[in-house]
Amino acid sequence: MVAPGRGILAADESTGTIKKRFDKIGIDNVEANRQAYRDMLFNTPDFEKYTSGVILFEETLFQKSLSGVPFPELLASKGVIPGIKVDQGAKPLFGGGAEETITEGLDGLRERLQKYKAAGARFAKWRAVIVIGDGTPSDYAIHTNAHALARYAALCQEADIVPIVEPEVLMDADNSIEICESVTDRTLEAVFHELYLQKVLLEGIVLKPNMVVSGAKCPTQAGVQEVAERTLKILKRRVPIAVPGIAFLSGGQSDQLATAHLDAMNKIGGFTWGLTFSYGRALQAAALKAWGGSNVEAGKAAHLHRAKMNGLASLGKWDK
Ligand code: 13P
Repeated sequence: MVAPGRGILAADESTGTIKKRFDKIGIDNVEANRQAYRDMLFNTPDFEKYTSGVILFEETLFQKSLSGVPFPELLASKGVIPGIKVDQGAKPLFGGGAEETITEGLDGLRERLQKYKAAGARFAKWRAVIVIGDGTPSDYAIHTNAHALARYAALCQEADIVPIVEPEVLMDADNSIEICESVTDRTLEAVFHELYLQKVLLEGIVLKPNMVVSGAKCPTQAGVQEVAERTLKILKRRVPIAVPGIAFLSGGQSDQLATAHLDAMNKIGGFTWGLTFSYGRALQAAALKAWGGSNVEAGKAAHLHRAKMNGLASLGKWDK
């Protein structure tokens, strides 16, 4: 999953989230369009050179390509590992601060994992959301989300499925980079504490964190080198070297910046984990626009380009 020069394509948008993406290009959110779009992504020639795995939404795991091959089988035939998003979304956290959420989906997860494994999934993803705001995040939100992440990870390991552990500190507020740094620090401390308490084997997880950045609405934006240095500082403090890989989310960063930040960290080096991407928007935005519902070749070309740039960045060899 974190092989050198490769990273993960997050194509696991729920039906509600893909609607927001399709709305922007005027495409109806019907199953046939979702199938055609993902068929374009997964049939991009050579994307497997830069892509170790794809995170699927449940519908896609059980769907066939346009030529009738089950999507997990198609991906596996290219040497790309199929994975599955297993959380059931972030819901309001009763007693938490404004906008705070708890990610749900633990009930029945053991049985669902068996079903997903039989369909070809070899890894899973669970996303916890940590909100920065006035007085937030609360310790309560951090700890309940860390607890659920660890419970999910333990169930995955029981089922012989690799858990991607994703505690996402949102990047869209007006906070400074210093605030993002301290919240990411608190969050990762809590997550690794819970993983330890719940006996999760660190050698068998992939961490999917946010980068330490200035909030999107902050008037002063930290530069690429500062983002890379602050992110590495916190990861080195909180992520044991037993963890084999870290694959970042893009979280609303522009395509270019998501690539530049990853590249800068790999150029700095000095860590043992594989450090790569698990991007959704930063890998798909250009492809979605170029595809526009019908232009399959343009969509594939745009997808391949971003996959290749991020593959280079995962080696610290990207050159704008
Ligand atoms: P973004 O890269 O668009 O943040 O999506 C990654 C992801 O999988 C979020 O859960």
